[in-house]
Amino acid sequence: MKKNIIKASAIGKIILMGEHAVVYGEPAIAIPFASAKIRVFIQEIDGPIMIKSHLYKGPFDQAFENLYPVFALVNKILKKFNKDPFGFSIEIKSTIPVERGMGSSAALAAATVKVLYKYFKVDLTPNTLNHLVNFSENIVHGNASGIDSAIVINEKPLYFIKNQPLKHFNYKLDGYLIVSDTGEKGNTKLAVSKVKEYINQQPETGITLIKDLGKLTVKAKKVILKNNPEKLGILMNQAQIILEKLGVSNNKIEKLVQVSLDHRALGAKLTGGGLGGCVITLCANKADAQKISQKLLENGASKTWLMKLNNKENFNES
Ligand code: MEV
Repeated sequence: MKKNIIKASAIGKIILMGEHAVVYGEPAIAIPFASAKIRVFIQEIDGPIMIKSHLYKGPFDQAFENLYPVFALVNKILKKFNKDPFGFSIEIKSTIPVERGMGSSAALAAATVKVLYKYFKVDLTPNTLNHLVNFSENIVHGNASGIDSAIVINEKPLYFIKNQPLKHFNYKLDGYLIVSDTGEKGNTKLAVSKVKEYINQQPETGITLIKDLGKLTVKAKKVILKNNPEKLGILMNQAQIILEKLGVSNNKIEKLVQVSLDHRALGAKLTGGGLGGCVITLCANKADAQKISQKLLENGASKTWLMKLNNKENFNES
């Protein structure tokens, strides 16, 4: 008899403005990234838990090296439900590139929690989901602000401030966004610790840079609500300069930013933790976005996605 398969999924995210500063209580703006998705499947099997994913395939009890956040999360949930690590397999399928600032770790945690609660037939409250995803995110990021968890759980654009009630952010902006993958893994944990180190070593400059990023996000919200993509582009460029000063950019990111600006983009910056990962490029219209996307691919981007910024998810990949 074919055994039941239980499944759950979660989508990725893009931070438009405010990464890193959000860790220090400044606002950030994030939007869902629905064309990149993680799906997690559970199937009953005889014997101990087995894992199948592109990062690790094998017994669950040996997954701590390659898949530690999932390992820790599953263990936590098993303990909570007083269950032994037996009787099912977990399969992870993902179209969210790993460590590219697209929220893959939060999405993986969210989908894993959802599928386990379904499997054990326990109601999952938004609070519990948030708590468990944040537990996993703190392992991955070190000192997570909670923005990645919030966006992958809510799947709506957010104006996010750490430890404050969530504010959905409905916008309609004339413009297109390109997300381009540098092809290099980012490292959010390292990037977050670099910023912390900067602030520890140069508190005055460090805090000023963080506050300036916060001010740019406040302005960005205003110009988005006024449907002014040109001004948003300028603010994105200013944010990129500050992120460079904080030490979380790199040559590949800056190359893609420069290619964007050389080809009439309104603005461009890194998104997420940085030190690799993805660049976002704001374009006035679809024709510009297609042309710039092509230039980005010719100049080292491993992949691009285009999104019409009208609050509806419609990314196209190339
Ligand atoms: C990572 O997507 C965003 C950071 O600001 C870290 C965090 O907020 O947890 C770099």
